[in-house]
Amino acid sequence: MILTDITPDSAKAVAEVERVCFTDPWSEDSVLSLYKSTGSIVLAACEKGNIVGALLARCAADECELYRIAVLPQYRGKGYALDMLGAMKDICRARGINTVYLEVRRSNEPAIGLYTRFGFQSAGVRKNYYSLPDEDALIYLLKLT
Ligand SMILES: CC(C)(COP(=O)(O)OP(=O)(O)OC[C@H]1O[C@@H](n2cnc3c(N)ncnc32)[C@H](O)[C@@H]1OP(=O)(O)O)[C@@H](O)C(=O)NCCC(=O)NCCS
Repeated sequence: MILTDITPDSAKAVAEVERVCFTDPWSEDSVLSLYKSTGSIVLAACEKGNIVGALLARCAADECELYRIAVLPQYRGKGYALDMLGAMKDICRARGINTVYLEVRRSNEPAIGLYTRFGFQSAGVRKNYYSLPDEDALIYLLKLT
């Protein structure tokens, strides 16, 4: 189940997903700060009442940037990430967004597989964009119109 109306109380669980899934996790305060900011999208995937995945994004003008999407390791491969992207797309459409964009590490095959499967298209490279370790960012776009 995808929760699109999560409350600030959920920020702790979202931050826990971040902590488990990333080497540079967003803190609970960062999640809350995004939640309160104009145009934000904070979604969670839920199983048996527990948050097992999260998506963080922000819309500005007619664009949306997907910052993060993650699913706890034991819940991967069940379609939660695709479901969260679908919910994000519906929200973006309702807000009149034309394009969703994101950056991803070149080596992140699961994420690239997910984005491609969902319909994102490759749109360029930022050389050595990431550090620890240094790595290129691939840019992906999803056109909604
Ligand atoms: C990327 C991630 C969010 C996918 O979550 P998930 O819930 O397992 O994804 P889904 O079950 O919805 O899979 C959807 C599609 O993604 C692709 N995919 C998922 N895992 C994959 C893998 N290990 N390798 C290649 N493609 C993969 C497949 O196309 C899959 O479709 P299929 O099942 O029909 O083959 C998850 O692996 C994750 O949390 N990774 C760590 C965090 C991260 O790197 N996030 C992205 C950068 S912000």
